[in-house]
Amino acid sequence: MIHSRLIGSGHCLPERVVLNAELSARLDTTDEWIRTRTGICQRHIAAPGQSSSDLALVASREALAAAGVAAAELDLIIVATSTPDFIFPSTACLLQEKLGGRGGAAFDIQAVCSGFVYAMATADAYIRGGLARTALVVGAEVFSHILDWEDRSTAVLFGDGAGAVVLRADNAPGIEATALHADGSHSGILSVPGSVCGGKVVGSPFLQMDGQAVFKFAVRVLDEVAREVLAKVNASVDDVDWLVPHQANLRIIEATAKRLGLPAERAIVSVDRHANTSAASIPLAFDEAVRDGRIRSGNRVLFEGVGGGFTWGAVLFRF
Ligand code: UT7
Repeated sequence: MIHSRLIGSGHCLPERVVLNAELSARLDTTDEWIRTRTGICQRHIAAPGQSSSDLALVASREALAAAGVAAAELDLIIVATSTPDFIFPSTACLLQEKLGGRGGAAFDIQAVCSGFVYAMATADAYIRGGLARTALVVGAEVFSHILDWEDRSTAVLFGDGAGAVVLRADNAPGIEATALHADGSHSGILSVPGSVCGGKVVGSPFLQMDGQAVFKFAVRVLDEVAREVLAKVNASVDDVDWLVPHQANLRIIEATAKRLGLPAERAIVSVDRHANTSAASIPLAFDEAVRDGRIRSGNRVLFEGVGGGFTWGAVLFRF
């Protein structure tokens, strides 16, 4: 039986760091409000002209190097992003060209902050189904492009970045279980309700959110989906070495860990330094923890995400 294994990861953060103090100097907010309500101290913001595919390229090169895989070996590239470079071609095709690969399948997945778990579960299905052997899975975002920088309720929450992993077909798992869900009836609580038509933006090009509704929804479904993937392999929370949740708010991460009965120190946190980087947040947090030696080969890791759509999902794997 074919399984998929995660064999390398990488990340990219834009150089420019924006501290809470910089935002409070021009918005009606404070460092104290941002820290206590979200846990965020700073975020990285892309330089003018720096796109999702640029960030994806750096993260992907790191992941390929860590995996010892050449771009030419990739037969699948999936980029999870809600901030693609263009309407088309896909960011995955642009990334393939920048990496210098040719011929394998390449496409984007749009599931907002759940995008990375959607992309990983999709790549896993391709590999297990024999449609691909070596896949690059990327989360890359420039949410700074879709924020209203005058709106204190959203501008303080997000950052830019990218994370990438390489998955390869193997005889042993690897990825043990995945679960994906969506409920479009909640599309209104987190959206960028704009489109391009006739040369104009129709609707709004800025992110809008009912923060409290999102918060309650997130805590509930993150608990449910974690239990769902664990149940698929008859595992319990005690069998999880590391939880790598979507990084939206420290209070959501702590509440999720508490509901699951997982000690808080086994949940990886990067929201304090990266803010919410949407589809990039899970691979970014994961790669940092691999590189600093916390997550090690053989550990059992649980990724879980929730975001606009509404969408949510989880991936359980042995690293
Ligand atoms: O990736 C998935 C997408 N996002 C999320 O998961 C975010 C989920 N939601 C959250 O993280 C939290 O709901 C927020 C951080 C967005 C907000 O925290 P909250 O504790 O739910 O605050 P709130 O929305 O209830 O607002 C409390 C007060 C309000 O003032 P009043 O009405 O009590 O006078 C807001 O106007 O805080 C005010 N406020 C701010 N004050 C200072 C909202 N934003 C700010 C701000 N600085 N930046």
